[in-house]
Amino acid sequence: MLGDNGAGKSTFIKIIAGAHQQSEGTMKVDGEEVMFDSPRDALEKGIATVYQDLAVVPLMSVWRNFFLGQEPTRGWGPFQRVDQAKASAIAKEEMAKMGIDIRDTEQAVGTLSGGERQSVAIARAAYFGAKVLILDEPTSALGVKQSGVVLKYIVEARNRGLGVIFITHNPNHAYPVGDRFMVLNRGQSLGNWAKDEISQTELTQLMAGGAELEALQHELSQAVSAGDADEHLREVAEEVAEELHDIEEAAHHRPDSD
Ligand SMILES: Nc1ncnc2c1ncn2[C@@H]1O[C@H](COP(=O)(O)OP(=O)(O)OP(=O)(O)O)[C@@H](O)[C@H]1O
Ligand SMILES: [Mg+2]
Repeated sequence: MLGDNGAGKSTFIKIIAGAHQQSEGTMKVDGEEVMFDSPRDALEKGIATVYQDLAVVPLMSVWRNFFLGQEPTRGWGPFQRVDQAKASAIAKEEMAKMGIDIRDTEQAVGTLSGGERQSVAIARAAYFGAKVLILDEPTSALGVKQSGVVLKYIVEARNRGLGVIFITHNPNHAYPVGDRFMVLNRGQSLGNWAKDEISQTELTQLMAGGAELEALQHELSQAVSAGDADEHLREVAEEVAEELHDIEEAAHHRPDSD
């Protein structure tokens, strides 16, 4: 899912993740209408969310982060202990499935690279039975190489049968890994397309064209409403508004968009 700052991406996924409730519309999981009261409700349906900042605890070890309170135990009753050897082995194995070799699961997550940290959160969600994985801008703070690492995990997760909702500003990140694309703009969908219905260039134009024009329109309409615009500026403002309208219209009228 794509969209510029403030488009409503995070708000939308918070609804799917159970953090907010929608005021309109219906949401279905496996064909059944649902209304989540809390993130726990969403988790019970297999919907796991990885937030950019809250994904991991930097000072905690890799294996602790992997389990976060759900560690396997041994013994029983008052003799029950976290089975650290088992927890470490599982964490190492699950990370290996994502293609990451963690030498020492005792090392603090903070010592991993940004991309690897995201992957701990992704591997954890997959291990605990997530069916749908929501990633809110996992690549936004990363460089090109690290972003590539995260994109690779997204593909791995998809190959393991998870549905992945990947939120990003960047069409270059979305296009290579996505099957379907949805573009949000000011809280509204500009449309949603299967990969064979939209090219990377079109997706990029939709993002860039819309975003730039919108910023421009905002600037201009402020000047106009402040009353310090002359005739020419008002004309320009109208033209920009029209062009923006055209882009949105064009997006809506593509085949199969809604
Ligand atoms: N709790 C809230 N109360 C009122 N308005 C909010 C709230 N949360 C978000 N908004 C507004 O809703 C709009 C969409 O915000 P949202 O965080 O969903 O955008 P976004 O697409 O995720 O942007 P970004 O790319 O910057 O993360 C913004 O204009 C924001 O100011
Ligand atoms: Mg956001």
